Amino acid sequence: MENRTARLKRIRILAVALVLLSLLILLVSAYIRLSGAGLGCSPWPDCYGQLLAGQASLHSGAARILHRSVASLALVLGFVLVAQCLRPYLIQPAARWATALLTLMILLTFVGLFSADPHRVWTGFINILGGVGLVLLSWRTALAAGADPAQPPPRPAPVLHAGAGLLVLTIALGALIGVRYAATACLSLPVCGDVAWPAAAGWSALNPFTVIAAAAGPGDDGGVALHLLHRYCALATLLLLGLGALQGLARPAMRASAGLLLVLLLVQFSLGVLTVLSGFSLWLAIAHSVTAALLLAATLQLLTRPAA
Ligand code: HEM
Repeated sequence: MENRTARLKRIRILAVALVLLSLLILLVSAYIRLSGAGLGCSPWPDCYGQLLAGQASLHSGAARILHRSVASLALVLGFVLVAQCLRPYLIQPAARWATALLTLMILLTFVGLFSADPHRVWTGFINILGGVGLVLLSWRTALAAGADPAQPPPRPAPVLHAGAGLLVLTIALGALIGVRYAATACLSLPVCGDVAWPAAAGWSALNPFTVIAAAAGPGDDGGVALHLLHRYCALATLLLLGLGALQGLARPAMRASAGLLLVLLLVQFSLGVLTVLSGFSLWLAIAHSVTAALLLAATLQLLTRPAA
């Protein structure tokens, strides 16, 4: 029977390759989405959201070709990864995570068939969360294939679990700002003009199963609600995950992961603030989108780290 260690190594290599491909997919699709939305366009902000008015997309066809090629390669590697986990004998828990990854890839391929229409909020929303999910599941598979079964199970602090939950919420709210074309709804910091809490009319913007006709312009209730909630959740995430990471620094087995998480938290928070201060620079927004996935992967790493 083939050596289990050699198979685990192959699974790890494939999973790490899929992490890198998923990050590339995330980067290119953020470019396609955000440049198509009109972030960083000229004349700003009048050109923002013109895609919704039937204007041609601003991004080049090359980005779409790159996106399709990388996504197709990732799908093929996804099948190879699952096959490696299943045959000639089952390797758990890597097989479970690899199968979840492949299922998500197939789901996203299916959602892609509906994503040509920029008015449909749910397709963009699922695409953003799905892209982040690809990075997360491929990293989870790599961690599962690298875990030492002799190590004691992880005992992460409750504060880390709460911070991870808030991080997912922050990412979902950020995605809604993007897919609702709501960047220009709030151009100031720390709050939106003199509005510090969402108006009653703004909460409906949390519903992703809707169709939009135009971009949410300055002061739009829904857009303002999304910006404010995104910022408050980001602040709570910074505090809780930051605290969890600081606690992790005290444990030798967790130190490197905790340090990485702290750095990514600060970078991500700064990128968000700089995106607004820069008047919505396209490249800062793209970096903000990709770093969100890295942050989630680093949180997962800390959550699955053995305590000792
Ligand atoms: C833990 C911290 C944060 C996380 C995980 C996070 C995550 C995200 C994500 C995933 C998006 C969607 C990007 C896309 O459309 O591709 C987003 C959008 C955005 N975020 Fe954050 N964010 C954080 C903090 C902040 C902060 C502190 C600010 C500003 C004060 C901010 C401002 C924005 C803005 C303006 C957008 C919309 C840009 C667009 O049109 O997509 N974010 N965020």
